[in-house]
Amino acid sequence: VILIGSRHLSLARLPTPVQRCERLSNVIGAEVFVKRDDLTGLGLSGNKVRKLEMLLADATSQGADTIITCGGIQSNHCRATAVAARMLGLRPVLLLRGVAPQVADGNLLLNELLGAELHWCSAQAYRDERDSLMMTLAAAERTKGYVPYVIPEGGSNACGSLGYRKAGEELLTQVPEGFDRVVVAVGSGGTLAGLALGPQIGSLSGVMVCDDASVFQPRVQKIIDEVRNSERGSGAALCPWELLEGYQGPGYGVATPQIWATIRLLAETEGLILDPVYTGKAMHALVQEVRAGRWSGRILFWHTGGAYGLFGRGAELAQVR
Ligand SMILES: Cc1ncc(COP(=O)(O)O)c(C=O)c1O
Repeated sequence: VILIGSRHLSLARLPTPVQRCERLSNVIGAEVFVKRDDLTGLGLSGNKVRKLEMLLADATSQGADTIITCGGIQSNHCRATAVAARMLGLRPVLLLRGVAPQVADGNLLLNELLGAELHWCSAQAYRDERDSLMMTLAAAERTKGYVPYVIPEGGSNACGSLGYRKAGEELLTQVPEGFDRVVVAVGSGGTLAGLALGPQIGSLSGVMVCDDASVFQPRVQKIIDEVRNSERGSGAALCPWELLEGYQGPGYGVATPQIWATIRLLAETEGLILDPVYTGKAMHALVQEVRAGRWSGRILFWHTGGAYGLFGRGAELAQVR
């Protein structure tokens, strides 16, 4: 039996609204709705806080005073973890992929503002040994007398994913009939896994923002299996889910002019702010699939936040007008 935190904290502004995108629907020809998880908070904005409510409950129940996690230089997860940790009086320690820039912006600026302890590693070290690097950081914290708790990349493990099982329940209280399709960005897989573990809200389409299905299929399935084999997973329903290929763009964090054009489209038609790393790619997939005639009916776009990832990207935006 895998130990999964039995409590959760209340950090996010919930329930987040569901809104109909009338103008976008008219432009592309399907009924599009948005679940506004970009509104879970300001510092805490986005999907990560729902996972952190579960993970930090587990951490505090174990007496942790230091939270260690990892991510890219502009990781939303690291920023949300740092904010949540400070809200609870805990110390954030972050392992970041890359090299410290001269001047911080976006999520990194917030991490610095929050006084998170930053450790940097190369892309290769991050890919091959991030978990063991975090264990080394945890050991160092212990020798200093702290009680560390390590959260994996994206908060995507069995415990964190339960936040999204609850989110599926929240959605059904708002829209009991559900949707034909629910579209969400996939970066580390926990959000999709959590939704898959929840009630029937619609057929789930996960839009990968990097790598491909050979990487994410087993990752998402592993989280689902861990929850289903745990004490809190018995009888867990499974919402049908799939991974959508073809919208990763050139690589993680890299957005094509077409993706930027979709970001602009949403801003101009609906006043919705998307980002070039996650939600821009996922919305681009939605728009393209509808326009190609492959998707129709009532489609929910699960907005997972990420707005801070826009900052520092003005030069790219200027190229698409
Ligand atoms: C804004 C945003 N959207 C979507 C995702 C993807 O969620 P997950 O990591 O649970 O797949 C992330 C993080 O990876 C994110 O920061």
